[in-house]
Amino acid sequence: MVLLLLGLLLTGGLYTAFSPAQAQEQESEAELAAQGRELFLVGCSFCHGQNGEGISDAREGYQVGPSLVGVGAAAVDFQVGTGRMPLAQPAAQAPKKKVVYNEEEIAALAAYVASLAPGPAIPDAEDYSIEGLSAGEREEAIVRGGQIFLTNCTACHNFNGSGGAMPRGGYAPTLRDVPPRYIFEAMLTGPQNMPNFSNGNLSPEEKRDVIAYLGSLNETPEYGGFGLGGLGPVSEGLAGWIVGIGGLVGFAVWIAAHTTRSTKEKAEA
Ligand code: HEC
Ligand code: HEC
Repeated sequence: MVLLLLGLLLTGGLYTAFSPAQAQEQESEAELAAQGRELFLVGCSFCHGQNGEGISDAREGYQVGPSLVGVGAAAVDFQVGTGRMPLAQPAAQAPKKKVVYNEEEIAALAAYVASLAPGPAIPDAEDYSIEGLSAGEREEAIVRGGQIFLTNCTACHNFNGSGGAMPRGGYAPTLRDVPPRYIFEAMLTGPQNMPNFSNGNLSPEEKRDVIAYLGSLNETPEYGGFGLGGLGPVSEGLAGWIVGIGGLVGFAVWIAAHTTRSTKEKAEA
């Protein structure tokens, strides 16, 4: 009898100890999503639809706003956190602007969009931080990241991450001083013309290495003065040619115009 009572007490106790926490967590998640829905209806729904289903115009292929079903919390955190969304007006590319929402509102919007369908979640700080690594491991991460960057990103972002032009008025932005979280999310969600690099494609560790590499670029000074955006030896050589040789030719002409002979000729005439 005592044993039975004890057993009941124990299971009861354990249940109350664990289940409310879980229920509470689910509840707060749902609450956050509900808050996000309110914000969404006011600020986003006229382009993305009442339920994030997207709106397309009668004009063929023109989208007022794409469907957000399944884009995940990471896409919202990136788009709204970098100020790309809410979009002010249709353009070839959503530009970075002043961020309109605060941290909590972005979290709520992200929770709402994540509740529509499963999608990539906002990464944890430990996924992209290199704080825990030793100096040697950091060095290795930077080298590996450089290799990954070279094969996957340089085509659009340039070999030192300074960006470049894209077809139809688009551009790949510079990656200097982009916060690690947004680099991770950009790879995860592939904004606009950028392909996405899912975690199956490029593991979180490889993404962290790329972030370590880009971080090392921020810290490297530009040797040799003005780098012309790191466009490479061709443009730098061309600039050197035009400015340098052009200057010399100009100087030679100036000297020729001020020799004794030319002044003598002028005096005779
Ligand atoms: C004026 C119309 C407009 C408004 C307002 C707007 N968006 Fe967008 N949104 C777009 C367009 C167009 C795109 C697709 C092209 C792009 O990314 O620039 C887009 C793309 C996105 C994406 C990326 C989808 C993907 O496939 O990765 C997210 C996430 C997003 N919007 C969220 C939001 C949120 C959240 C709000 C409200 C705070 C919002 N948008 C407000 C027009 C809009
Ligand atoms: C096919 C071209 C292409 C490739 C390849 C590409 N990107 Fe991008 N990337 C873009 C474009 C275009 C944008 C701008 C999207 C926008 O503004 O919505 C972008 C945006 C970004 C941003 C956001 C920067 C900001 O200002 O907020 C980051 C970070 C980024 N890319 C990192 C990478 C990394 C890392 C790789 C390689 C793993 C990569 N990209 C590969 C085209 C590309």
